[in-house]
Amino acid sequence: MDVAPAPGTLPYYEDVSPGTGALPPRAWWSVSDARRLNLGGAWRFRLSATAEAEDASFARPGFDASHWDVLPVPSHWPLQGYGRPAYTNVRYPFPVDPPHVPTENPTGDHLRAFDLPDDWPGGAAVLRFEGVDSCARVWLNGEELGTFKGSRLPVEFEVGERLRPRGNVLAVRVHQWSSGSYLEDQDMWWLPGIFREVTLIERPEGAVCDVFVHCGYDHATGLGTLRVDCTPGGTLTVPELGLDIPTGAPVIVPVEPWSAELPRLYDAELATEGERVPLRIGFRTVAVEDGVLKVNGRRILFRGVNRHEFDPDHGRVPDQETMRRDLLLMKQHNVNAVRTSHYPPHPAFLDLCDELGLWVVDECDLETHGFEEVGWRGNPVDDERWTPALLDRAARMVERDKNHPSVVMWSLGNECGTGSGLSAMAAWIRRRDPARPIHYEGDLSCRDVDVYSRMYADHAECELIGRREEPPQADPEADARRRNMPFLLCEYAHAMGNGPGGLSEYQRIFETYERCQGGFVWEWIDHGLRHRTADGTAYFAYGGDFGEELHDGNFVCDGLLFPDRTPSPGLLEFKKVVQPVRIEGDAERGLVTVTNLHDVADLSGLAFGWVREEEGVRTDHGRFEVPALGPGESARLELPLMPREVTAGAEAWWTVRAVLAEDTAWAPAGHEVAWAQFAARKRQGGRVRRGAPHPARRAEGGVVVLGPGTFDAASGRLKYLGGSLVSGPELDVWRAPIDNDRGMDWYPQGQLEPKWRALGLHRMRRRVVRVSVGGDVLTVATRIAPAASDLGLRVLHSWTAAGDRLTLQVRVEPEGDWTLPLPRLGLRMGVCPTLDRVRWYGGGPGEAYPDTRAASRIGRYEAGVEELQTPYVRPQENGARADVRWAELRRTDGSGLRVDGAPPFWLTARPWTTEALDAAAHTHELTRGDMLWLHLDHALHGVGSHACGPEVLPEFRLTAAPAAFGFTFTVLRPAPEESL
Ligand code: GAL
Repeated sequence: MDVAPAPGTLPYYEDVSPGTGALPPRAWWSVSDARRLNLGGAWRFRLSATAEAEDASFARPGFDASHWDVLPVPSHWPLQGYGRPAYTNVRYPFPVDPPHVPTENPTGDHLRAFDLPDDWPGGAAVLRFEGVDSCARVWLNGEELGTFKGSRLPVEFEVGERLRPRGNVLAVRVHQWSSGSYLEDQDMWWLPGIFREVTLIERPEGAVCDVFVHCGYDHATGLGTLRVDCTPGGTLTVPELGLDIPTGAPVIVPVEPWSAELPRLYDAELATEGERVPLRIGFRTVAVEDGVLKVNGRRILFRGVNRHEFDPDHGRVPDQETMRRDLLLMKQHNVNAVRTSHYPPHPAFLDLCDELGLWVVDECDLETHGFEEVGWRGNPVDDERWTPALLDRAARMVERDKNHPSVVMWSLGNECGTGSGLSAMAAWIRRRDPARPIHYEGDLSCRDVDVYSRMYADHAECELIGRREEPPQADPEADARRRNMPFLLCEYAHAMGNGPGGLSEYQRIFETYERCQGGFVWEWIDHGLRHRTADGTAYFAYGGDFGEELHDGNFVCDGLLFPDRTPSPGLLEFKKVVQPVRIEGDAERGLVTVTNLHDVADLSGLAFGWVREEEGVRTDHGRFEVPALGPGESARLELPLMPREVTAGAEAWWTVRAVLAEDTAWAPAGHEVAWAQFAARKRQGGRVRRGAPHPARRAEGGVVVLGPGTFDAASGRLKYLGGSLVSGPELDVWRAPIDNDRGMDWYPQGQLEPKWRALGLHRMRRRVVRVSVGGDVLTVATRIAPAASDLGLRVLHSWTAAGDRLTLQVRVEPEGDWTLPLPRLGLRMGVCPTLDRVRWYGGGPGEAYPDTRAASRIGRYEAGVEELQTPYVRPQENGARADVRWAELRRTDGSGLRVDGAPPFWLTARPWTTEALDAAAHTHELTRGDMLWLHLDHALHGVGSHACGPEVLPEFRLTAAPAAFGFTFTVLRPAPEESL
């Protein structure tokens, strides 16, 4: 039975056409002397379960909506208490039955009555929607204006003739699902609504219909080229350049170029008969030359991030303050590029990118990834019936954003497979704007693009590509073309949970191979939605927390910022790894080599200083002059006052820092841009604490007493230390798996967590082999192993004591054929929970793991245990501090415990157990226990970025192997009371 609808009979929301009634797309500008009326605010709202549940009578003048609810516009209605958000990554949350959508199609009717301001001049005007998700039908004063799709793209309707001075009624029906939803399968929350501004804009006679600013910069001559095409014609003035020229006329003038590092803008004004529009012009030329992407003749390196628009309370609703905050955070963390994944951002964001300086890859609102689930059958980008919708999207992006110097590339969309629709988009874009290269990642043949882009390619593959030695494509011509293209990673370093590891190793590749022009971390921010428990505790919700029948859990939380925009350790690591100045030191000779890694800027904006510390205590500091090195240049400098002598037995470190010399638009003077640390060779000698060894003796009650320690004689376990109850230390190999240990469902080979659990690393048992008391030493031999396996670890503990100190030497010998890496190897110890102030000398101040330790610097730090926890949205292993020489944990009265490690160790302290951390799904499920848990680790397995990327690199894998390490525990007495 054929029940397919006859052509033309589909309702507008299922019809594949982009819509009806809209004006041709054009450039956006935020202000002009034409009047604007912001129609945001309180609207009347009614939600229906289906598209057809209500007729269109609500749009008629006189309709009484006073009993309807009130909804703010812009907003997403599921975040205002109507229906629920839903999260899926790849899968469509409805049957793949294009272009049909489910009958259950939440539909929001929105009504807004408005008067025109008294001085509204009459005449032509447009009604502009910046973004409506996903399909809308619009009426003004009862007359239908049209319908549209394309959620993150603007639409305008001519309305002048329909406006009245008073009592206008704007009615908008919004459907959550439409044919457009098939084109908008981005990895994010499904959030319908009028989520960007609605504006009425006066269009006086002779107003600017559209303007296209063509600017270039010739780096050989230092001349800028400028031509402003405008309909209707008018004049352009650029006072700073002394220009007052007719539109359409090309001029060549000496200028300073625009770049992300030096975002030089010239204020200009476009005047037509009916309108004056302020413009900001940046001169720059983007080109692919000799297989390298260049701006103004220089190779650029993307230190980029993928940015979704997101706010934990409002979703994708714009807010100037948040946009600016994102950009300031990016600039402050050495981010120089943004891919607007996976749709054009709010237009004001691009104004800010022009102003503050970011390279932008502007991506079209297009993703059809869910068709992969059905073998790409019916993929809209490979079906010409959809091509008009694709071209409409390309045009709406390019026309809106074409005048931004920050936009250096157009991206056709994300994860759409391949097809002729993409070629049609590329061809259209090339005709309209030949001055910008085109990007698309999903077609390995690269037939429509100018750059070879990939996501999550591992280090080894990037290295091959860097050498232009990647495996050939079948078609030699296509292969030759692609091999000659610049290479970028439009996504890499998946920042989900603890990670991403391996950033430094990527950066080394980007800095080695000219072809590898950097990449964009996936992604900028976790999309956790703020929720509260019944008792008001806030936490961030993710997929599945709204009862979705299909969802992808916390895969929506994979950013460098936590949902509330707190930088995660991953962002601090990124900042260090991509720092635009390389500083290498030779402490013995007092020499520093400084290399400028900027693309464009010299070093004149930075001031350099150094600090010398012994055992973490500052002994000296100074400034030094670094010449204004150009990009790529290096200089070897002698540090003026650097003392080369080190106190015997002490450890000395130099920290060299490059900070902003003056305030900039994005950070104040003194803001640190780059740094490095280097150590002097340690001189032997100095005071060593000795003391007569205490004998180990068996005592009443089945205990062994050794100095400040009391042990259970049968198990060899330490029970009391300095009179306080302790648990352990015990050998521990388990960690609460991180998202990168869980890995990807679609690549089970790499999933460590299930393998670790199958082996039983989370349920290791301890067998006491021997407890022997001999002279000054208590020796405890154990074997740690999981049930059902013959793999195990033999552990030999040798305890000695001297003075107030108890020392433990540990030797570990694996038994059997260990093929899996260990999550960790170290001791776990429970101590009194009041010991919650931690001071340490070692790496800090933040978290570090073997492959995320670039940002960790040696020093003395202090923190409360709370502050040592990293609140990943889904709780998991976190909070380790690297290279710790010693740590002191104290109560408020100053009493406590000191741990010295030999060699230095990884310190983790948490108010709950690993088991509790492992079991928790949200942060609020973690509650303080009756012990403080210390992890004193000899070694940790790296973190990698295998939640959607490479596994832990071999050099950061923790292979089970013989190991020896030791700790000394000292009981700290209360600080003496201050004498009165
Ligand atoms: C990519 C995709 C992104 C995101 C990421 C994983 O495949 O383009 O949208 O899903 O993987 O988080």
